[in-house]
Amino acid sequence: MHIHKYEKWWLTFGAAMLIAFLVIVGVSAFHGGTHPNNSKWTINYEKVDEIAPFDNPGVHKVEGKDWDYEVVLVASAFSYNPMEIEVPVGSKVRFIATTKDVVHGFEVAGTNINFMLEPGYVSEKITTVDKAGEYVIVCNEYCGTGHAMMYSTLKVVDTDDNSNSH
Ligand code: CUA
Repeated sequence: MHIHKYEKWWLTFGAAMLIAFLVIVGVSAFHGGTHPNNSKWTINYEKVDEIAPFDNPGVHKVEGKDWDYEVVLVASAFSYNPMEIEVPVGSKVRFIATTKDVVHGFEVAGTNINFMLEPGYVSEKITTVDKAGEYVIVCNEYCGTGHAMMYSTLKVVDTDDNSNSH
């Protein structure tokens, strides 16, 4: 069977694209830890303020768990509660977040902490913050007119600084 030269190029190009995209998906899933939110934790989004732990948003030190801190976060148009998150470098943090209204994003720029906040669902992530610095938290899901103004800060502070402040 004769295959035209250009036809061969296109077949090669198509096959190469397929392999390239599979590699990208594979690397981001298995190396980057990117995966869909499979949260089975649901919540009545109209009563978020009354339901624990969201009745007390903020950074909480915890004892006797596999992680050191819990960050309870409530998003709403167009802000995050708490406004600012501060945790010591090297600590293991469990982020627990939801939204009171529409879909928002929670992306800590420059890290792989990045999840979608959907009304009625609680998103979670347990991660170790191993690099000190100030990270910008942005909403990466278009949520309305104030979307671009919706941001917050994650401060990962040196343990020395932290002990000085207490
Ligand atoms: Cu919240 Cu965009």
